[in-house]
Amino acid sequence: MKELSQKVIKAPKSKIRELFDLAAGRSDIISLGIGQPDFKTPQPAIQGTIDALNRNITTYAPTRGVPELLQLLEKKLSRDNALNVGWEDNIIMCNGGSNAITLAYASLFNPGDELILASPNFVSYFYCGSFYGIKVVEVERRSDLGPDLEKIEKAITHRTKALLINSPNNPTGYVLKRNELEEIATIAIEYDLYLISDEVYENYLYDGLKHVSPGSLNGMLERTITINAMSKLYSATGFRLGYVVASKSIIDLMEKYLQYTVAGTNHAAQYGFIEALKMDRSFFIKILESYNERRELCYSRLKSIGFEVHKPGGAFYIMPSVKPFNMTGSQFSMEIIKEKGVAIVPGNIFGSFSDDKLRISYATEIDKVKEAMDRIESFVKNL
Ligand SMILES: Cc1ncc(COP(=O)(O)O)c(C=O)c1O
Repeated sequence: MKELSQKVIKAPKSKIRELFDLAAGRSDIISLGIGQPDFKTPQPAIQGTIDALNRNITTYAPTRGVPELLQLLEKKLSRDNALNVGWEDNIIMCNGGSNAITLAYASLFNPGDELILASPNFVSYFYCGSFYGIKVVEVERRSDLGPDLEKIEKAITHRTKALLINSPNNPTGYVLKRNELEEIATIAIEYDLYLISDEVYENYLYDGLKHVSPGSLNGMLERTITINAMSKLYSATGFRLGYVVASKSIIDLMEKYLQYTVAGTNHAAQYGFIEALKMDRSFFIKILESYNERRELCYSRLKSIGFEVHKPGGAFYIMPSVKPFNMTGSQFSMEIIKEKGVAIVPGNIFGSFSDDKLRISYATEIDKVKEAMDRIESFVKNL
């Protein structure tokens, strides 16, 4: 048989899945590997979907999305993100934040174009890059896990087409401050680059930090591709609903691409998203308090156990280094799951500069997080 696609062959199978295979059949496992919130999807989102199905909304959706949903998103974007865009021209629905990434890649890049990002970063950015023939250039983060903007500027070449940022960040939990975003915007404008801004964790912010959408900064609306999704705020990763905000010329290309690749987005679920967007946002306050408590717990326990660790400002991840224990993140992750039944993702799946790190998700009940920290402590003591 002839050779299959090298682009896909080269992407490794998900290490997170491998980790869960190791855990299969063991009831004692505590997982700190999950990238989805642990609270229930709000009832209005579920009921809205059920009602739509009962009304036989089972046909293809309009490719850009259900107009009522796009109109609500237009309001949300103006209110929460200071992005003043038009629902008919500047927003498109898609299949989760993941599909939003591929839409951005498909519509911006030609083979050989370069995309710069701070590393470590979300795993899909790398492999989707190779699927689309993009050279993804990783720039090592600073030791506090923020982006090194001087090095990013130095990495720009005549092939650089875009920068990609994700704040709050998976896997580091780092939140870009307004001044950092302004510096990024200055670079994007000076070198005529697009800016892909993945904002799927925009609501998970602690310590009074405020989310800033870079598309709202001076001169950035036209060159920013804003990615967002229903998945994390509404604990609705299975709804597979995401959206992109961009200039009309980009959204027009995305519509064409979406039409031929997936023929649109789940129709009934979009009515669930409509109901979710109508909810009073206070539903999230208690949830955020609970995540904050877990964040504080993880940070203080990891620090006292002896990890090198920075307190994350957002999302529900923390990325400690295992350097003090003379191990790699992979060794730590493999051994702790076998010996203590704690599933933790090794840092090296998030790029080339995180071999010494682990990614811990604290989107798990606090008692389990506590128990996991106890097990980590006992594992480290026996090293
Ligand atoms: C930074 C980031 N972007 C995008 C996604 C994909 O989101 P979705 O589940 O909506 O496809 C994730 C999922 O973990 C993520 O962490």
